[in-house]
Amino acid sequence: MIDRAAALLQAGGVVAFPTETVYGLGANAFDARAVARIFEVKRRPFFDPLIVHVYDDAMLARIASNVSPLARELIGAFWPGPLTIVFPKTAEVPGIVTAGLPTVAARMPAHPIARELLARTNLPLAAPSANPFGYLSPTRAQHVEAMLGDRVDLIVDGGPAEHGLESTIVALDPVPTLLRPGAITAEAIEAIAGPLLRPSSEEATPLSPGRLPSHYAPRTPIRILDPASVPASERAGAGALCFSAPLEGYDRCEVLSPSGDLREAAARLFEALFSLDASGVVRIDAQPVPERGIGVAIADRLHRAAHR
Ligand code: TXA
Ligand code: MG
Repeated sequence: MIDRAAALLQAGGVVAFPTETVYGLGANAFDARAVARIFEVKRRPFFDPLIVHVYDDAMLARIASNVSPLARELIGAFWPGPLTIVFPKTAEVPGIVTAGLPTVAARMPAHPIARELLARTNLPLAAPSANPFGYLSPTRAQHVEAMLGDRVDLIVDGGPAEHGLESTIVALDPVPTLLRPGAITAEAIEAIAGPLLRPSSEEATPLSPGRLPSHYAPRTPIRILDPASVPASERAGAGALCFSAPLEGYDRCEVLSPSGDLREAAARLFEALFSLDASGVVRIDAQPVPERGIGVAIADRLHRAAHR
């Protein structure tokens, strides 16, 4: 399976593969035509740049023209892992990957299958999340199969994703800035980089073009409120996304973490939304999660899912 995936990628194919955050939809980052297929498959607008995955420092040097001392420190602390860093790009990276920006967003994934593909192809792999643009990100191969199965060359199944939420994205130049909260907390990065600028959604859009207010959304309308406050008469026909305890009266109830663990909740978030979306409920009532640690990233995804 890995052999076939590597051969397809080398030949300009588009392959979905697991990472420790969510499933990615990958292609050779140096092949503009292959990358164009990613946009086509996802129906993703060309203004939204992709993340490029690298195997090691040598591969990073092929896409990043400069790695600052601060970037080195963050790499030492968090790579391989769910941190994406924005670098000035080399001329070798085609403009379609970066949406014409002079920078490239890169990360070194930790998942053994992603690493194996990078090693075998010896190519940096451009890979956004393997979902149609704007929809929930896939945390299982079955999610990719259901959404894009007939449009990709191959899906490599690596079981459920460990983190279940996308990587944290930071830009370092001109000042350290949090572009997307994610699997690594801002606090962990600040321990090394000092205080991070945290632009509001509107301010972040030009800096990180994919950060649209409506994103990661199920088809079913979703609102964020405490489902416990919803009268019983409004619960029938609807679904509830609960943090740690189930609620009566809803047609479907998904509990993110019975023990109230935020990491477990993050890992289950998209999966729970997929299953509520597929269940035919008319509305999803989502309970807010505590906004500390990775809870900040969960809240970010929920707010975008609820934005219409
Ligand atoms: O965990 C992840 O990061 C997953 C896995 C597959 O690695 N990938 C992922 O990619 O979430 P995607 O395409 O869904 O998110 C990419 C986002 C863009 O929407 C944009 O906001 C930001 O990364 N980005 C990419 N290149 C950038 C750049 N040069 N400058 C600023 N932001 C950039
Ligand atoms: Mg995405």
